Formats: sequence, structure tokens, C-alpha cells
Amino acid sequence: MSDIQTIAFFGASTGVGIAALKHTLLSGTRGVALCRDSSKLSAIFPDEPNLTIVEGNAHDVEAVSRCLRREDGQLVDAVITSIGAKPVRNRMSLTLDDPEVCQEGMKTLLEALNRLCSNRVSGSPYIVACSGLGTSRFGRDYPLVTLPLYGYLLGVPAADKRAMEDLLMVSKETFTIVRVSILVNGVTTKRVRVGLEKLSDTASRGRIRGCGLLRTLY
Ligand SMILES: NC(=O)c1ccc[n+]([C@@H]2O[C@H](COP(=O)([O-])OP(=O)(O)OC[C@H]3O[C@@H](n4cnc5c(N)ncnc54)[C@H](OP(=O)(O)O)[C@@H]3O)[C@@H](O)[C@H]2O)c1
Repeated sequence: MSDIQTIAFFGASTGVGIAALKHTLLSGTRGVALCRDSSKLSAIFPDEPNLTIVEGNAHDVEAVSRCLRREDGQLVDAVITSIGAKPVRNRMSLTLDDPEVCQEGMKTLLEALNRLCSNRVSGSPYIVACSGLGTSRFGRDYPLVTLPLYGYLLGVPAADKRAMEDLLMVSKETFTIVRVSILVNGVTTKRVRVGLEKLSDTASRGRIRGCGLLRTLY
């Protein structure tokens, strides 16, 4: 087994994913990135020996499976999924151009991992999934002043993220869900609030190692 770790990325052509991919490659870790249009990533990383770009859709089990193997044939060490859809106006609220993008992506990822495990591919990737505020079942996880935004306007993306989180929580995988607020490019010098949400009692703690849900506390 190689000492160099490999991380699979879903949604790394922009935003959170590309930021995480850049950090990964800088640290000497290998990356495998699935991209619907591979030219987007190859233009940014023209000569990156530690990056493999796979063209395909995160809702396609075959394409996703191609990203989940290390060079030595075992499962990758970690998966970072940050796929998301584009907002579309729907009368007075917002919807997405693919309203179930995250839950479909998670279903596909879990199915791909199950299939590989059934084919005796060994390994246990740590999954990090990018979610958002407004998904907590413990209470309000956003500032009161943003209630119209998270409580009403962003209802469609929040329902999709919650469904994605539920799939992960009842799976046998080890994971962390990161619920982000509003991200901006670059480094901030401002104070950032971070919190840790306890797992629901319904989750089978025995099967889950070191997982948590990060959220901003208000
Ligand atoms: N940015 C924020 O402030 C913020 C706040 C709260 C929550 N979030 C959530 O955090 C996640 C990441 O945010 P972000 O800002 O990084 O999003 P983003 O910039 O919109 O990136 C979404 C990524 O998902 C990819 N993607 C979407 N559907 C795909 C599919 N079927 N197959 C393969 N790739 C697919 C896109 O690829 P293409 O290039 O092919 O389109 C893109 O790389 C999203 O779920 C978002 O809703 C973000």
C-alpha cells in the first residue's frame, strides 16, 4: 500500500471543491476529480502529476466508481463531495436547476462504494459532504434576521441537503458533514463562528467513527 493518500473529489470544478482540491495537491496528497467538463479542471491544473481528472456525471455510478480507486486498486482514503446546482427563480421563492442534485449524488456515491465492496475492493474512505445552514433538526442554525432566507426562500436546497445528510447518517460509512453559511473567495481576517452538532440518537454510533456535523451556532 502506498504511503501517499488519495482523495476523490465530486464538484471540484468551482467553489468549495476547487479550494479543497488546491490544498490537497499542495500537501502532496493525490486527487481524483470527477468533472462534467474536464477542460475546466485541466485548464487550471495543466501539468499536475498528482491529479487525475475523470470526465463524467456525479449521478452516474460507473463514472463515480472510476474515481474511487487508488493507484494500488484499493478504495481511496477520503471523498470530498461538494456538488450543488444553480439557483433558479420560482415565483416568490428560489429553486434549483437540479433540485435533488445532492441527494442523487449521495445515493450514487453510496451505491458505487457498495458495489466496489461487494467486488472485494478493500478500504474505507472517510466521506466529507458539503451541506448548508437551515438543515438542522436540533433547532435554528442561522441568525434570526436571516429567517426569511433559510426558513422560506432556500427551502428547496435545504430539503435536498437534509435528504443527502439522512442518506449518509443511515449508511455504514464514516463521515463529516460540513454545513456552511455563505462562503466568499479568499482568506478572511474576520471571526468565524463554528459549532459541532451532536449526532442524532437514531444514528448507529457504533458503526460511525469520528463523525460530526459542523454548524455555526446562534
Ligand atoms: N458557496 C456558498 O456560500 C454555500 C453556502 C451554503 C451551502 N453551499 C453548498 O455547498 C456546496 C458547494 O458550494 P459551492 O459554492 O462550491 O458550489 P458551486 O460553486 O456551485 O459548485 C458546484 C459543483 O458541483 C458540480 N456539479 C453539480 N452537479 C453535478 C453533477 N451532476 N455531476 C458532476 N458535478 C456536478 C459543478 O460542476 P460544473 O462545473 O459541471 O457545473 C460544480 O463543480 C453546494 O451544495 C452548495 O449548495 C454553498
